[in-house]
Amino acid sequence: MSKKKLVVLTGAGISAESGIKTFRDSNGLWENHDVAEVASPEGWARNPHLVLDFYNQRRKQLHTCKPNGGHKGLVDLERYFDVQVITQNIDDLHEQAGSTKVLHLHGELKKVRSTVDENLVYSLDGWELKWGDKCEKGSQLRPHIVWFGEAVPAIETAIDLVDKADIFAVVGTSLNVYPAAGLLNYVAPGTPIYIIDPHQPSYTPASNITFIQANATVGVPELITLLTENIHA
Ligand code: APR
Repeated sequence: MSKKKLVVLTGAGISAESGIKTFRDSNGLWENHDVAEVASPEGWARNPHLVLDFYNQRRKQLHTCKPNGGHKGLVDLERYFDVQVITQNIDDLHEQAGSTKVLHLHGELKKVRSTVDENLVYSLDGWELKWGDKCEKGSQLRPHIVWFGEAVPAIETAIDLVDKADIFAVVGTSLNVYPAAGLLNYVAPGTPIYIIDPHQPSYTPASNITFIQANATVGVPELITLLTENIHA
């Protein structure tokens, strides 16, 4: 019998206990930078060196971080379910933990891409992308990140995955940023939804939603128990 499809939408909160700051509890700043300066096409046009340095710092920091019990718990669930992670995070902690299906909505910190052909995407060796590093067509390379104001190419794929979910879980996202936050609306009626967050994120309460008020390292193991207790019974 094929495994039930468990789709999990994750955000910055699942990486918080790995030492990576979330966004909205840093009073709107991202590591002390205004996101418009370091995460927008205008910021890149205005000062590409600042943007390159910002993501180089983020990559350097990521090299010191490890997956936590939240990431690992989602890997454990692959024993019981066909698990698809859809993440807003640009870190690769889901992949490091061992998740086999991860869709990045907002890009990937360890990848870079051409500024003349967005299909030319490269894995970056090391942590530093420098001004003058060029793609095979001779144009400057940029972070492979979806900046504010840019399209989210993976959203159609994400919607299709959510639409087919037998169970939907949300871990560590304030559900403030669209189109990712809108994925909740594509869950088929009656599908069980589990939301794990130490604070109440913004969603419309419904009978099929179970809210687990906890950090990811506590809430994901709790989810495993909830989802597998009848399997063990
Ligand atoms: N475990 C689980 N959740 C946590 C933890 C934790 N240890 N610590 C904080 N959280 C929750 C917060 O309560 C909040 O609801 O994680 C959520 C983080 O929300 P945001 O900081 O808004 O991050 P996120 O939802 O991922 O932001 C979405 O916005 O800035 C853009 O592109 C960026 O991908 C990002 C997007």
